[in-house]
Amino acid sequence: MAATIKRITINDIREMKHTGEKITMLTAYDYSTAKIIDKCGLPMILVGDSLGTAVMGYANTLPVTMDMMIHHSIAVVHGTEHCLVVGDMPFMTYHVSTEEALRNAARFIQEAGTQAIKLEGGVIVADIVKRIVECGIPVMGHIGMTPQSVNQFGGHLVQGKKLEVAQKLIDDAKALEQAGAFCVVLECIPARLAALVTQSISIPTIGIGAGPDCDGQVQVITDILGLSDFTPKHAKKYAQLMETVTQAISAYQAEVKAGQFPTKENSFIIDSAVLEQVKA
Ligand code: KIV
Repeated sequence: MAATIKRITINDIREMKHTGEKITMLTAYDYSTAKIIDKCGLPMILVGDSLGTAVMGYANTLPVTMDMMIHHSIAVVHGTEHCLVVGDMPFMTYHVSTEEALRNAARFIQEAGTQAIKLEGGVIVADIVKRIVECGIPVMGHIGMTPQSVNQFGGHLVQGKKLEVAQKLIDDAKALEQAGAFCVVLECIPARLAALVTQSISIPTIGIGAGPDCDGQVQVITDILGLSDFTPKHAKKYAQLMETVTQAISAYQAEVKAGQFPTKENSFIIDSAVLEQVKA
């Protein structure tokens, strides 16, 4: 009998904080990438609204819509058997009213088949997080340099270097924990502050630009594969796919032009008797 593959649950993620096993998460936006991440055994995939910059070529995440997120989340879910897939709620899809937030969160679960959603903010979204969780939808929080507030921050700037904001981040993390979030992303905050947040709450922290002492790490897949135009300070290139793909595409073009591709091996045959009867 074939072994059944168990999908990771939020309980498994919570448990990892207690056992001290580091949580590794990557973003994905399509079926093939999700399939590779799933095969590698990572416990979680984020269909991030970084879709806007990484895939759509926008300057920031603000133009991303629910329909775009659902479209890509469906593809990612199709590529996974094992990973817990988290769908990222785009800008202004959870602020206007609790009702709208609930309907949009539900679209990820019902239409795309993700197991959880993520949204940005702390104290300010705690009531909405609580309602979404009460409706049975797991929520991942996201605080620090939350990209949907880029205009408010005046750029993609590290948050929490000053006392007031550092204290606010602790309060935000605790508010999300209280509201029932199963974990929280800490983006671009000082490493020692991230360590303090991590010690202060019972749910896992997932860092991106938040140092090594978070319970886990998340990265944007195009950054670590060397597919981005720009590599942020918090990312590391584990591959140089821009160069590899450029070489492959150039080789393909050169072979087509030279008549070296396709060959007999790449072509299909027809019986000569049939071909003779075809009127040209
Ligand atoms: O959209 C995204 O990829 C994210 C991660 C950077 C955490 O929110």
